[in-house]
Amino acid sequence: MGILSRKATCNSHGQDSSYFLGWEEYDKNPYDEILNPKGIIQMGLAENQLCFDLLERWLEENPDAAGFKRDGKSIFRELALFQDYNGLPAFKKALAEFMSEIRGNRVTFNPDHIVLTAGATSANETLMFCLAEPGDAFLLPTPYYPGFDRDLKWRTGIEIVPIHCSSSNGFRITESALLEAYQSAQSRDLKVKGVLVTNPSNPLGTTITTQELNLLLQFIASKNLHLISDEIYSGTVFRNPGFVSVMEILNQNYKHNHQIRKQVHIVYSLSKDLGLPGFRVGAIYSNDDVVVAAATKMSSFGLVSSQTQYLLSAMLSDKKFTKNYIKENQKRLEKRQKMLVRGLQKAGIKCHKGNAGLFCWVDMRHLLGANTFESEMELWRKIVFEVRLNVSPGQSCHCSEPGWFRVCFANMSEATLDLAMQRLKAFVVYSTVATSPTTTTTTNHLPTKRKNMVKWVFRLSFNDRVVNHTNDNLG
Ligand SMILES: Cc1ncc(COP(=O)(O)O)c(C=O)c1O
Repeated sequence: MGILSRKATCNSHGQDSSYFLGWEEYDKNPYDEILNPKGIIQMGLAENQLCFDLLERWLEENPDAAGFKRDGKSIFRELALFQDYNGLPAFKKALAEFMSEIRGNRVTFNPDHIVLTAGATSANETLMFCLAEPGDAFLLPTPYYPGFDRDLKWRTGIEIVPIHCSSSNGFRITESALLEAYQSAQSRDLKVKGVLVTNPSNPLGTTITTQELNLLLQFIASKNLHLISDEIYSGTVFRNPGFVSVMEILNQNYKHNHQIRKQVHIVYSLSKDLGLPGFRVGAIYSNDDVVVAAATKMSSFGLVSSQTQYLLSAMLSDKKFTKNYIKENQKRLEKRQKMLVRGLQKAGIKCHKGNAGLFCWVDMRHLLGANTFESEMELWRKIVFEVRLNVSPGQSCHCSEPGWFRVCFANMSEATLDLAMQRLKAFVVYSTVATSPTTTTTTNHLPTKRKNMVKWVFRLSFNDRVVNHTNDNLG
């Protein structure tokens, strides 16, 4: 009836998910140590701000790279006119080598198989356009990154069918879960074109095991499907078991199987490992020349700007810098993750055991009034509006079990993380006292109780906190 397209007016973008609603609430009342100490702390954003000092030091020491200069001479005009959608060869080479370095140089990447895209968002969507028709399906293990509902489905018309993973086996991918998802798609008359996994997983903060990778490769071989491995968090693995890329397993077990090699595609980006989501640098790596050629043509809708490529080719070619950066980044992430896990423990909250990523997958099932997603939403609302922490509820990640939340730890200072933990602890203690059978409560008192709880949480001031902030990267 309107004069706009169906795409412009449909809601499959996922903007109304609690994942994005939490961001909106944060934007209305953002925490600031001085200006708004009672505001909402953003723990729903997987940003890596822990190594800005290393990046900034490199920029200071290499002024030519960001100053449009080569050997002291301006190359402004060259960069301003560059528009080859194949990308700067020097940058693709540096990126391929950086990807190998993150994998301990156990695999090498051929720069000719790389397609540059405006972030992993664009890489994932471009792959959908290359591998499937509207109405076809991709299978994704749950819980999964909420942005996939937008990135994979919205403009392409692709369907996502969940592979239901369960806490009973640590959310591992099993053969029966894969088959169940495949059959569920078939029963909906959907043609399955592939499986997409994130390794390390967002939101679990864990790496996929070699056994799971082998299972996935056997599965796609038996059903003639594609496998996309989104390895955007590959540089964030800070603890054993280490990261194993699907490319390593392909080289070990499918070295001469050209067909399977062509059906496996990797997505990468510098948004998480280097902490540069604003630079919009992503990539597709594929062994299929037809996919590389098609994706390269499509990439003209979302290219990486020439000055960004120029700057980053200089940075990533500096091997002394990359070696130190990769190590230091992992060290800082591990320290931060431990701090979150310990803070949660003090509040009586457990985490899924993680070894990677910028977040923990947190088990708050014991805080639910009932084992339902309504109850999860109720708890989420309290955490956002009363405790004033924006975390992501499991249902926004399509988790099949209520009570799990993704909590990010690398986008704030240690002091802010510490405050967040104190608020959460106060909330848990208060909730436990308020709901204990010895406390007389009636529903009439609820508003007063709420107010008391909020007051209690916010009695915490910076002075109450006991953390040693000397190593606080964000100051
Ligand atoms: C698994 C995964 N893939 C893709 C993206 C999008 O990344 P980019 O900023 O490079 O578009 C994200 C961002 O959070 C992510 O977690």
